[in-house]
Amino acid sequence: MGAEPYYGPDFGLLHRRDPEVAQVLLDELDRLRGGLQLIASENFASPAVLAALGSTLNNKYAEGYPGRRYYAGCEVVDRAERLAIDRARRLFGADHVNVQPYSGASANLAAYAALLQPGDTVLAMELSHGGHLTHGSKVNFSGRWFDVVAYGVRRDTELIDYDEVRELALRHQPKMIICGATAYPREIDFAAFRGIADEVGAWLLADVAHTIGLMAGGALPSAVPYADVVTFTTHKALRGPRGGGIMCTRELAARIDRAVFPFVQGGPLMHAVAAKAVAFGEALQPEFADYARQVVANAQVLADALAAEGMRPVSGGTDSHLALIDLRDVGVTGAVAEQRCAAAGITLNRNTIPYDPEPPTVTSGIRVGTPCVTTQGMGTEQMKEVASMVAQIIRNPDAVGEIRARVTALTEIHQIYPSEL
Ligand SMILES: Cc1ncc(COP(=O)(O)O)c(C=O)c1O
Repeated sequence: MGAEPYYGPDFGLLHRRDPEVAQVLLDELDRLRGGLQLIASENFASPAVLAALGSTLNNKYAEGYPGRRYYAGCEVVDRAERLAIDRARRLFGADHVNVQPYSGASANLAAYAALLQPGDTVLAMELSHGGHLTHGSKVNFSGRWFDVVAYGVRRDTELIDYDEVRELALRHQPKMIICGATAYPREIDFAAFRGIADEVGAWLLADVAHTIGLMAGGALPSAVPYADVVTFTTHKALRGPRGGGIMCTRELAARIDRAVFPFVQGGPLMHAVAAKAVAFGEALQPEFADYARQVVANAQVLADALAAEGMRPVSGGTDSHLALIDLRDVGVTGAVAEQRCAAAGITLNRNTIPYDPEPPTVTSGIRVGTPCVTTQGMGTEQMKEVASMVAQIIRNPDAVGEIRARVTALTEIHQIYPSEL
């Protein structure tokens, strides 16, 4: 319990050896502390996670898997990987877990590699309706190497059109169907996807990169009982280190492991694997379920409060950690809203809304997420204040001074990485 704020593992040493880089760390911490982070895919990992990341496990080459490495001296790091696997299996009830993917995109590449051949047909969510680049974008391996057919959300409800998913599946006979998204606020019906996949004999991949933390905390239903393969990230709502992971059935375990290493990756990042173990351990604690529920409650209040300000949440609200807000009624584009919020110390991102008339660089919407502010200890009362600030600055850029002051008042109460950590 020192009086000094937490800067990261052995910050003093870094400061003495490399003040230039140390200054970057300090400035970033100042940026975080002085503003509000509403990016739905970000979070604040605990000092324990950061300590594991900043450890000597960074140095170890460990190609292979625990007990089956291609390097000597892996007996200690094996323990970290086994801990990560055991904890993730306990957390999600999965048959098999691979904790080595470097990121969510690497996990998805490995899942494609395990189940498909180039040229195979995949059915996945349209990028502009909330899907991810790795779900078939032409600028990504998925769109270049696979024949991707896209499903979307209905124009009237802005919810996934399961009838359309089924019709497209019957027509195109995909080898794999992907569910899971980057900007879809609502619960996904994994059972419906399972039914459609079974009807056409397709693999079901659930990419829960965004919602894995809510699954871990029981705030959203788990994809594990339904999907053949579940890919995820560890740095979003789960609040761990940057990285990815894959869960799958026992039957697919060897295929997934071979796809991660040696097909897609080389040596695993053992410091990140250890940090994943720490994050899974934290997510196993009862407090994490409270956190996950609060993330969703906060997102719902934020969406409702923005709606009351005349800013329409896509699909009418949210079941998750994020809301997509349609700004067309206030006559401000997503790009302009993003800039205005940034000037006031509120970091959020512009986002395409379904059937968006604007190009992706401009967009008609913003995406707001609550994992960060909830980690800071904010609750539903604070979300009303956040919504009021967001709405005011989007409408009136001249209010920047006033909003900055209100942001500071809020962040002084709800500090990030405070000294007592
Ligand atoms: C649904 C989905 N899949 C995969 C990814 C990729 O994760 P990463 O950025 O770790 O590669 C993301 C990231 O936002 C995502 O939202």
